Amino acid sequence: TLHGILFDRPHVLPRNRLEELGADDRWELAPGNFFESVPKADIYVLKYIMHDWHDEEAIRILRCCREAMAPGGRVLVMDPVIPPGNTPHTGKILDLISMTIYDEGRERTEEELRLLFAEADLRVTRIINTGFYISIVEAVAN
Ligand SMILES: C[S@@+](CC[C@H](N)C(=O)[O-])C[C@H]1O[C@@H](n2cnc3c(N)ncnc32)[C@H](O)[C@@H]1O
Repeated sequence: TLHGILFDRPHVLPRNRLEELGADDRWELAPGNFFESVPKADIYVLKYIMHDWHDEEAIRILRCCREAMAPGGRVLVMDPVIPPGNTPHTGKILDLISMTIYDEGRERTEEELRLLFAEADLRVTRIINTGFYISIVEAVAN
């Protein structure tokens, strides 16, 4: 009974692979710009999205989700959550790669992520450790 919306830039969507599922009314494509608005939904899955952007842009994306989300909705950010201290973490290597290739993105600590959510009137409810180097950060409306 789940229904999914793949939201991306108009020139990117034609390269989606959902078509491989065949005629299927469980999903739809929605072209747009997440700095302007996003479709109404119950859950927003932002995988490898926030870490592409500076804080200001990342907050703008979260605010668009906050404005569009259905009552009781949730935002799920899937990115590395950098642990405190000098412990090894694959997210730190990704951070170095981002810094050397382009200057837009960055990996963030839990505290940094909580601040971004708060700026978008969202509250972090849990951080799910996936056993992989990305975690799922769940947030709801304040
Ligand atoms: C790093 S990819 C992540 C894709 C996918 N979530 C994944 O995990 O493989 C970032 C995605 O954000 C999309 N994107 C970039 N700017 C956008 C915008 N302004 N509005 C909507 N999507 C955008 C890109 O086209 C790209 O598909």
